[in-house]
Amino acid sequence: MKQDRTTGGMKVLITGGAGFIGSNFVRHILVAHASWEVVNLDKLTYAGNLANLKDVEQDPRYSFIEGDIADGDIVGRLMARGVDVVVNFAAESHVDRSIEDPSPFIDTNVRGTQVLLESVRKHHVTRFVQVSTDEVYGTLGQEGKFSEDSPLAPNSPYAASKAAADLLCRSYFHTYGLPVMVTRCSNNYGPHQYPEKLIPLVVTNAMEGKPIPVYGKGLNVRDWIFVEEHCRAIDAIIAQGRPGETYNIGADCERANIEIVYAILDIMGKPRSLVQFVSDRPGHDWRYALDTIKLNREIGWQPVYSLNAHLERTVRWYMDNEEWWRPLKSVDYYEYYERTYGRRRCQKTG
Ligand code: NAD
Ligand code: DAU
Repeated sequence: MKQDRTTGGMKVLITGGAGFIGSNFVRHILVAHASWEVVNLDKLTYAGNLANLKDVEQDPRYSFIEGDIADGDIVGRLMARGVDVVVNFAAESHVDRSIEDPSPFIDTNVRGTQVLLESVRKHHVTRFVQVSTDEVYGTLGQEGKFSEDSPLAPNSPYAASKAAADLLCRSYFHTYGLPVMVTRCSNNYGPHQYPEKLIPLVVTNAMEGKPIPVYGKGLNVRDWIFVEEHCRAIDAIIAQGRPGETYNIGADCERANIEIVYAILDIMGKPRSLVQFVSDRPGHDWRYALDTIKLNREIGWQPVYSLNAHLERTVRWYMDNEEWWRPLKSVDYYEYYERTYGRRRCQKTG
């Protein structure tokens, strides 16, 4: 079923819209669709930050509700006001935190998604997009790519919680006929990413003259996509995706972690001696890579941005927006950071 709703007015419930990708998506929708209304439901965890949306908060088409997707009352009240499309970004998203404590990942990523699905079942919603991840497929060796038909083999509590949510979405499509679509994207980079993730961590640590912890030998490979490309793909899937289907989203841009780290330090003119190789992440997936032919054939989407240009643009954004990230690297952050990296430093790999 091909549809193009871009001309009609739509009300979109974006969950987790105060986080990294969600806030970029809120902005994308408001710019791309003049007649659409956006409701952002976000619990404002450590990763949720209304400063990410300062430039749109006065827009009459935008509203923010603080709340938990696992709270059936709040979700039910919002849906009852009428929602056309739900895009679920809300999640605990950091693998290292899931290794420390998986519980919040189950609460939000699994239970929260089920609460949203249950509410969609009771109200008339034309599309539910579950924003998932390539991590549900597990890990690859040197060769090959994951297609949408690859088996799910998650290796971290984070990935397992996202895989569980994907399967709930599948079951709600098959059992109740809900118009659910799942997207699985690779590693995003861009403005407003919480500085616990590799790229903003490298830039901000380098600015502070702090060591940069690289897990293992830094040879694990990730497939990088600029966040706006991801947003554009989800928007296209809302318009043209088929209910019950899963779509991989990736930019075919594989890099070893150490290549990314050195590229950032080179852009910043900082010494490579800041790199500190530390013990590996437990269960660390070796490589991710996505086959995106389905997205290209069915939706006509393809990436247009180059990593070199947009990595530089991203690095400069963090260098120019110190007032955005400095408050985030506060007491809570350093407590977490020391717990995780302090231990890894003790087990340094040399
Ligand atoms: P993020 O951690 O930056 O943001 C998550 C947002 O969800 C925050 O605003 C947080 O406050 C909110 N949230 C958390 N629990 C909530 C709850 N119970 N109820 C309501 N809001 C809640 O994450 P991100 O990197 O922007 O990722 C967004 C989504 O995209 C996640 O579902 C993630 O699994 C997926 N994803 C991320 C990447 C990536 O590279 N970052 C890649 C593929 C998929
Ligand atoms: O692949 C998509 C996933 O990408 C998303 O689903 C997750 O939400 C998102 O967090 C991201 O997961 P990763 O674990 O790949 O991202 P992270 O930035 O944590 O790490 C990227 C790589 O860098 C990974 O191989 C681990 C390594 N790393 C990470 C950190 C934070 C380091 O070597 N040192 C670090 O300090």
